[in-house]
Amino acid sequence: MNPKQLVGEKATTYIKDGMIVGLGTGSTAYFAIMKIGELVKNGLSIKGVPTSKATEELAISLNIPLLAIEDVVKIDVTIDGADEFDANKNLTKGGGAALLREKIIASVTDFYVIIADAAKGSQFLGSFAVPVEVTAFGKEITIAQLKALGCIPKLRYKEGELLLTDNQNYIVDCKFEKIENPAQLSAQMNALPGVVENGLFAGMANVIISEDGKGSTITI
Ligand code: 5RP
Repeated sequence: MNPKQLVGEKATTYIKDGMIVGLGTGSTAYFAIMKIGELVKNGLSIKGVPTSKATEELAISLNIPLLAIEDVVKIDVTIDGADEFDANKNLTKGGGAALLREKIIASVTDFYVIIADAAKGSQFLGSFAVPVEVTAFGKEITIAQLKALGCIPKLRYKEGELLLTDNQNYIVDCKFEKIENPAQLSAQMNALPGVVENGLFAGMANVIISEDGKGSTITI
């Protein structure tokens, strides 16, 4: 089985009847959502909360019942992907530009399940540039302030145009070297007025499921 499908399906074993489930974004979360669609078809009663417009469309196409975000107070389980993880289960997310909705949903989740290729794991974060969602207004000032925190910042483009997030903001990908204290760096970035949210998810993941290269899953 495709490793992304393997970990995606494994993650759904945390879902029980009656739960409210956060639905992640990306090519790995896709397989978890496909499996949830199958479980719903077979009678599982859950309500989903999508982390992006793309995931919302996928969930609707699979007839997964959804909750409007304004009706959400607490989520039982969220399953999402990651771009990088460290030895303490800190994450870098936002490769798919959905980090703001992903972090809001993670912040009210009781059990946060991450599914990611084992190759995305290392002792310290820093290989993957940290995506930061910034306001359009003053973005040049915000980019300069991010640079002063020690990164090489790059505005993200898609198909030749500046990428607009689901929330009508921009993404700046910030390449740091070794990130030894993700919680501290996250707080420093979020203290900048033009930063809406950043892609460091420090201390949020309960488990990370990856594949061992031989067709079995590893859960840390
Ligand atoms: C989207 C994300 C994704 O979860 C992350 O980019 C991983 O995606 P994939 O599973 O396709 O590698 O954070 O904003």
